Amino acid sequence: VRRLVIIGIGTGDPEQLTGQAVQAMRAADVFLAFDKGEHAPGLLRLREHLCERVLGDQPHRFVTVQDPERDRGATDYGGAVDTWHARRAERLAATLDSELADGKTAAILVWGDPALYDSTVRLVDTLAGRPGTELEYEVIPGISSLQLLAARHGISLHRVGGSVLVTTGRRLRAGIPAGADDIVVMLDGECSFTTLDHPEDYDIAWGAYLGTQDEILVSGNLPAVSEEIQRVRAEARERLGWVMDIYLLRRVEPGRIADSDPCAS
Ligand SMILES: C[S@@+](CC[C@H](N)C(=O)[O-])C[C@H]1O[C@@H](n2cnc3c(N)ncnc32)[C@H](O)[C@@H]1O
Repeated sequence: VRRLVIIGIGTGDPEQLTGQAVQAMRAADVFLAFDKGEHAPGLLRLREHLCERVLGDQPHRFVTVQDPERDRGATDYGGAVDTWHARRAERLAATLDSELADGKTAAILVWGDPALYDSTVRLVDTLAGRPGTELEYEVIPGISSLQLLAARHGISLHRVGGSVLVTTGRRLRAGIPAGADDIVVMLDGECSFTTLDHPEDYDIAWGAYLGTQDEILVSGNLPAVSEEIQRVRAEARERLGWVMDIYLLRRVEPGRIADSDPCAS
């Protein structure tokens, strides 16, 4: 049987690696990583750096799997994602066949936590379910950008006994569901907070490049900081060539006068 361990590595800071993650990395025979090409040039390098730091002189093999191009302009979003996932599965299967012998363990290093907006677990589960594949897998959790956002701003994501909605920029643009007052938005390439009908009703706690040396934090009542966020985000993206950001939108308590003390609970 071949083994695959999916390891959550946190969001870039090697100090975020858990003891379990370090152990699993030391036990791996080969490391696999999807190369997202020009979309995120620094991310592959960060993974390699992590391996060097954790493994030191221990020899290790690092194999990149070329990420297939995804049709980002497709009108059928779900269909385009399905096609992309199928092509990724084929590439990963081919890499495992050529790089992983029976009895050996491969590790896939996943950004943040594998359970949050990442398709690796689904992908590997599909492969493991194929007849004759002989593949077992295990997941090691990691610190996600969601947790880091809360920690850096020194906030809880929900109010006492409340709930929190975790969603994407695309879904936020479609409208905020009734009753959702604390909303974490990920995968937002378009600053979708600018599309809210009543921005003054929300505080925002925003973070980009969390856990890396380029980390940026901005928070405040949405109309007061919206332009600043858009400006610093655009500047950083221009300078670094990529951006990853996440934010909490918190509906202002009825009766509270909006001020610069966001997310006070
Ligand atoms: C494909 S998802 C992966 C999420 C990851 N599995 C996690 O646990 O954070 C990528 C999204 O996560 C968020 N993200 C990941 N890393 C981040 C970071 N270092 N700083 C801010 N946001 C980040 C952004 O919203 C980005 O669009």
